Amino acid sequence: PGPRSLLYEGIMLPALVHSTESVRYAQLGFQVRDRDVFSVTYPKSGTTWMQELLTLIHSDGDPQLARSVPSWERVPWLEQTTAAGFLEKRPCPRLISSHLPCGLFPTSFHGSNAQVIYTVRNPKDVCVSLYYYSKMASFLEFQEDFGEFVELFSAGKVLFGSWFQHVKGWLGLRDRLNFLLLTYEEMHQDLRGSVERICQFLGKPLDARALDGVVENASFQAMKQNKMCNYSLVPENIMDQRISPFLRKGVPGDWKGHFTVAQNQAFDRLYREQMQDVGVRFPWD
Ligand code: PPS
Repeated sequence: PGPRSLLYEGIMLPALVHSTESVRYAQLGFQVRDRDVFSVTYPKSGTTWMQELLTLIHSDGDPQLARSVPSWERVPWLEQTTAAGFLEKRPCPRLISSHLPCGLFPTSFHGSNAQVIYTVRNPKDVCVSLYYYSKMASFLEFQEDFGEFVELFSAGKVLFGSWFQHVKGWLGLRDRLNFLLLTYEEMHQDLRGSVERICQFLGKPLDARALDGVVENASFQAMKQNKMCNYSLVPENIMDQRISPFLRKGVPGDWKGHFTVAQNQAFDRLYREQMQDVGVRFPWD
């Protein structure tokens, strides 16, 4: 890995907010409680969106909390160095984010009744989103040549390792009652319906007005305006949003303007090889 990364069991992580100890704490020290709700994602797959949705569902559609506390504090990442401080004393139900692959998830999760929402996004759009994010975030390794970047992404030589390994690992849990699989694309197509699915899964029904509040405040436009989730609180020397905004485009299919025909064919070949036995059809298949 480059100087900005650390390697943990072969997985590359940004060293600014992770340490060997913080990931080991997530994996072995952290005590999962039965009412914990985890939002798990490979990076750039809808993490911030789900942080906003879970906060708003939890608040019955009232945006007050979402507008006054930063997203990374409301729904903190389990593997980051700040996790214990945010989570240890928090009452249940705790809302927790994680980018960890299934194999590095807390050992105390297995056997618990904690719930996992796994959000997955078309890997080509993930790759494009990660490209721009790596360009604007000074704490990430960046490869300017997009073709070279696609190669790194395809080989899993990016933060949190291979998209394929991450998705296949987590899909192994998809028959469990405490696991909900969502896609970025279905959230984009029908946000209200997706919120209803999440509410049903969480056993937290919302009335129509609360549902309106969630959907309105978690739209791309509303989130772009909310400084508690648009990352404008992060100093420019760490994230330079003049280079590329954190909430950049917010649509499926942006890969079409970035992948060449050859890059697309090579990626499709790899995708077929990797995903043929998975037995799940995604909106982009
Ligand atoms: S991170 O760094 O892993 O936490 O990033 P993550 O939040 O997973 O991904 C960022 C991408 O999600 C898009 N996004 C949204 N799209 C549609 N609607 C809403 N409300 C929304 N919120 C975040 C964000 O724009 C990034 O995608 P791109 O394609 O780069 O625009």
